[in-house]
Amino acid sequence: MSRIKTICCIGAGYVGGPTMAVIAAQCPHIKVLVVDMNEDRIRAWNEEDLSKLPVYEPGLDNVVTQARGRNLFFSTDIDGAIDEADMIFTAVNTPTKTYGEGAGMAADLKYVELCARQIAKVAKNDKIVVEKSTLPVRTAEALKSILTNTGNGVKFQILSNPEFLAEGTAIEDLDAPDRVLVGGDISTIEGREAVQELVDIYAHWVPREKIVTTNLWSSELSKLTANAFLAQRISSINAMSEICEVTGADVEEVGKAIGKDSRIGGKFLKASVGFGGSCFQKDILNLVYIAKSYGLSEVAEYWHQVVKMNDYQKRRFARNIVKTLYNTVNDKKIAFLGWAFKKDTNDTRESAAIYVADLLLNEHAQISVYDPKVPAEKMYTDLDYLNTRTEKENRALLHCADSVYDAVKDAHAVVLLTEWDEFRELDWNKVYGSMMKPAFLFEGRNILDKEALTQIGFVCYFLGKSNLV
Ligand code: UDX
Ligand code: ADP
Repeated sequence: MSRIKTICCIGAGYVGGPTMAVIAAQCPHIKVLVVDMNEDRIRAWNEEDLSKLPVYEPGLDNVVTQARGRNLFFSTDIDGAIDEADMIFTAVNTPTKTYGEGAGMAADLKYVELCARQIAKVAKNDKIVVEKSTLPVRTAEALKSILTNTGNGVKFQILSNPEFLAEGTAIEDLDAPDRVLVGGDISTIEGREAVQELVDIYAHWVPREKIVTTNLWSSELSKLTANAFLAQRISSINAMSEICEVTGADVEEVGKAIGKDSRIGGKFLKASVGFGGSCFQKDILNLVYIAKSYGLSEVAEYWHQVVKMNDYQKRRFARNIVKTLYNTVNDKKIAFLGWAFKKDTNDTRESAAIYVADLLLNEHAQISVYDPKVPAEKMYTDLDYLNTRTEKENRALLHCADSVYDAVKDAHAVVLLTEWDEFRELDWNKVYGSMMKPAFLFEGRNILDKEALTQIGFVCYFLGKSNLV
């Protein structure tokens, strides 16, 4: 019989929010408290109007409706939640460090450490602490040390339970995961018992054979490895996309052909303007930093190349726009379709669109962006964060449009950066009609029909397709 009656999750972001909502929906007998120090975020999670939830994810509104107020609660009372919970998940952000040793590579564990210190301060009885945030290997050790050295003498078991959900499909991924990974101190009885408690929670809806248990370090390293392998596939197909463009091969045909090989598999072979999201770059840089810190320079360099290739892909896409537009985009209106790092999410972290925009703004382009889920403020925050120019300049040069047709009016070029389904359905004749001529189209996602668009009159550039004509 499980002794877990209440769980809490510190961090109500893209990971904590959806994950806890699904656990609460699947386990009505467990009380789930989601806490965050960000009051605005918590207020948004408690919004009656579900379109105002802080995270956009297909299906999330249904899950929240099912459980919120029943056994799912969002609040800023972090201490109260820690005190009440038998099991505490930490899902706080672990961005790449921007200062000091390891800047630009290592993970910044400031938020994780603050969280651990708060748990230690508040906890009055034994707790299981679960790392949900992606952490460098052996962080559990640091967590354990903080908890036991600063705590009130209570016992803590540390588990690693990395999240493998992808944004845009988070609810599907949580409902039917390929696997759930639980790492713990399996060399001790208490450790094995803690692992079992978490396994039992997932077993309410996940088949047992899909729940994998390992030691702590294997679990932490598996998360980084999975993301590194996935990102590597994208950089590999993106590298091939440039070869395709100059040789006349078609990267989609190549992807389909190799994907039929069951040893390779068909997923994650879509060439793109570059991978984005909060995980891939951060986790690989983290891996590179770990390898370097153990003196494994070849290993570090091997993985670093995946990120370098990704940066190159974004750069080469932007440069090609400038080159094609007669080597100048100065004062030309360029329409961006999409700003999110992929479809079906309002997340823009590391989105390729930000970097392509930054390069074009350096060339004094006027950019007009339409994204169905990303508000103007987020676009400006993303650009300001790069520190390339003043906030005032960013606001003068980039405009957030209310519709595609507003964005493309009198534009010299339309650039597709996010594969939102609605862009497939556009009236492309109307788009063409309202643009300057020649009307250039740069396709960074390969979701449109190149032949049909060429027929309409667009001068097309598609990633990884022959652009020799
Ligand atoms: C990723 C992992 O998939 C997930 O398991 C982990 O928990 C977090 O990181 P996420 O970043 O949400 O998830 O999205 P993902 O679907 O992996 O896409 C990442 C980026 O790669 C996006 O920018 C996407 O557009 C791009 N991508 C993906 C490609 O360019 N080509 C592909 O074939 C697949
Ligand atoms: P992820 O994509 O990993 O979920 P997010 O940035 O979306 O990352 O969410 C992390 C959340 O964690 C943020 O809402 C942030 O306010 C919260 N957070 C960070 N540190 C703490 C802390 N010490 N206590 C409570 N919440 C925290």
